[in-house]
Amino acid sequence: MSKTEKRAFNVHPGIIQHLIREQAGTLVKAVAELIMNSIDAGATRVDLDFDEQGKFSVVDDGRGFLSRTEIEAFFETFGTPHQEGDATFGRFRIGRGQIMAFANTRWRTGNFIMDVRLLDSGAEFGYTLTETEDYQPGCRIDGQIVSPDVIREAYYAGLSGEQLYNGFSDECDFYSMIRFVGIPVYVSGHLLNTLPADNHWSHEDEFGYYLFDNSHSLSIYNQGVFVCDTERRSFSVAGLFVSKRAIKLNMARNAWLRHECEVIQHLRSVAHNAYVARIESSARMTDSEAGAIIRRIATESDEIDENEARILVRSKFIPSLAGQRISPFQFLDATQFSLYDGHSSLVAERAEKEEGFCFLTPQLFDLANLKVSAKNALLFLEIMVDVFSPFIINNQDRVLVQFDELLEAYSGTFEEIPDAELPPKQLAALRAIRHVASQIKQLTKDPARQTRKMIAGKSDCSDAWTNGINYIAFNTAVLEQAYLTRWSGGIERLVNLAIHEFCHQAHSSVDTHEHTLEFYQAYHEATLANAYCDIVRRCTRFYLKQLCKAGQRISSVERTHTTAIGKMLLSMGEKFPVKKERKDAPWSSVAHPTPPKTYRVVLDFSGDERISQDDLVLAFGKGWLEPEQSTIGMPITSGTWVARKVA
Ligand SMILES: Nc1ncnc2c1ncn2[C@@H]1O[C@H](COP(=O)(O)OP(=O)(O)OP(=O)(O)O)[C@@H](O)[C@H]1O
Ligand SMILES: [Mg+2]
Repeated sequence: MSKTEKRAFNVHPGIIQHLIREQAGTLVKAVAELIMNSIDAGATRVDLDFDEQGKFSVVDDGRGFLSRTEIEAFFETFGTPHQEGDATFGRFRIGRGQIMAFANTRWRTGNFIMDVRLLDSGAEFGYTLTETEDYQPGCRIDGQIVSPDVIREAYYAGLSGEQLYNGFSDECDFYSMIRFVGIPVYVSGHLLNTLPADNHWSHEDEFGYYLFDNSHSLSIYNQGVFVCDTERRSFSVAGLFVSKRAIKLNMARNAWLRHECEVIQHLRSVAHNAYVARIESSARMTDSEAGAIIRRIATESDEIDENEARILVRSKFIPSLAGQRISPFQFLDATQFSLYDGHSSLVAERAEKEEGFCFLTPQLFDLANLKVSAKNALLFLEIMVDVFSPFIINNQDRVLVQFDELLEAYSGTFEEIPDAELPPKQLAALRAIRHVASQIKQLTKDPARQTRKMIAGKSDCSDAWTNGINYIAFNTAVLEQAYLTRWSGGIERLVNLAIHEFCHQAHSSVDTHEHTLEFYQAYHEATLANAYCDIVRRCTRFYLKQLCKAGQRISSVERTHTTAIGKMLLSMGEKFPVKKERKDAPWSSVAHPTPPKTYRVVLDFSGDERISQDDLVLAFGKGWLEPEQSTIGMPITSGTWVARKVA
């Protein structure tokens, strides 16, 4: 037979230790708790003094602890319940524990002294109570902070007067924490706070003081003590709110109890009116205002009534493709929508112009701190239609098209870029590929009479493209990547792309951009032909030469290669020293008391270029060999060529 008992929950004394040690957040918060206690004790001022060694005092002129019984009930015992309305701040009867987690403290009040030393090693969990002859009016707490980190916090938070003397009080955490409490708080003799009534507010009522501005967040103060900052999107406004009544807070006093607090509910309605007035004013919105509205529509559309929707429909808060802001009225004028990928602007602009597409931009979601996703785009579009359709004339169905589909549909979209507009590196690459164009034409057996023109262009879809007849275009990004780094393909990639495009011959494979078996065969043969390597070499050399001519630095990867080749050539030269110097050598021993070492270097130059300083530096690596000045400008021929090592 089963037996049922009614039993109560129990609390282990260890919970008190947790309450003291773990409810404490920061020293600033712990000191604010002391000030709240002083206000509850009816004090008319509080004086704080913190020195650089972490010694401090907090003194008030309140009623203090009146008797031993009171000390036992309220100081010794944690969690004694409050009577409704007996305190402004006090609720849990544990706040005093916070300071005990940071400092050993001595509390003096009336004829009593309470010593709390929880931070001593091996300390017992308790306090000592002493009765004395001396009388302390109000309550005075002296303490010694133990950890050096916390002493530093006291300094930077503005608790030690120094920050205040230097005029930094406005930026200090402690100032922000107790900025609007209702009694004067002095730090090292300086008055820190201002009474709420002495400030300028945009609105005041029996619930509190309100200041709405252009900032990003709303700072909320519970009867003068800071609770938290909330993003503009929480209340659709930003600025300051200082409550006159108690906000129902959690134990840490850094969040309110959502469904219980009438003060916050009231704030919500005041904020809403301010927000409606603001959007009605039709002034240009800040990013944070626009973001708050987008977020409200996306997440709280149920709360938007007809009146608000009527105002919003003409407000410009939706970022458009062109970077302007448009209203829901303009947005919903379209029937085809797509989620812009953030970079394929050519395609998006064309779809907008030619087919009246309207784009949901990544910025739209970023402003509202929402994830950019196709799912969210669809949801947002549906909500927009839902909220604003009563005010929109065009009530046709609206569709969301995948951006990939647009990319495919407009894959031929590109824009030619004239040489004059290309940055030097891209122009050098384009010229280099032009330099070998006719060779590539031969290599790929392109039957066209003339070599296709090589141009630069911009496209969202292709690295290179051609009409198969008279031009091949290279995306500027690819031209840029010819500059060899550890992450880019260098000139070879450009040559391969050119071969690829040359293999698209006449109209056949261009319209569909199809890669047939013949196409692959042609490409395969071209890249395996002997001439291929020569083309890559010529193109690279020409490219580097162009870079030098344009005063551009050769990339460090390229330089490492050429230096390595130069060194290799040198070491080969060491193995085969020239036995006899050429008689007519212009650098013969006359100019040099010790004849310089000479090397036989085999160069593989071809074509009809002339030697330039850059060529020689490239061939030998700077600092290794200094070419004879007289060779510069001479025709380059393959064969043996003699240079000397620089001392
Ligand atoms: N400066 C003070 N002057 C007089 N009494 C004080 C003072 N500081 C604390 N007390 C007494 O000690 C009690 C405990 O303070 P404590 O901060 O721990 O709790 P509380 O203020 O009642 O509630 P809460 O946990 O919400 O702060 C107070 O209720 C008050 O009776
Ligand atoms: Mg308290």
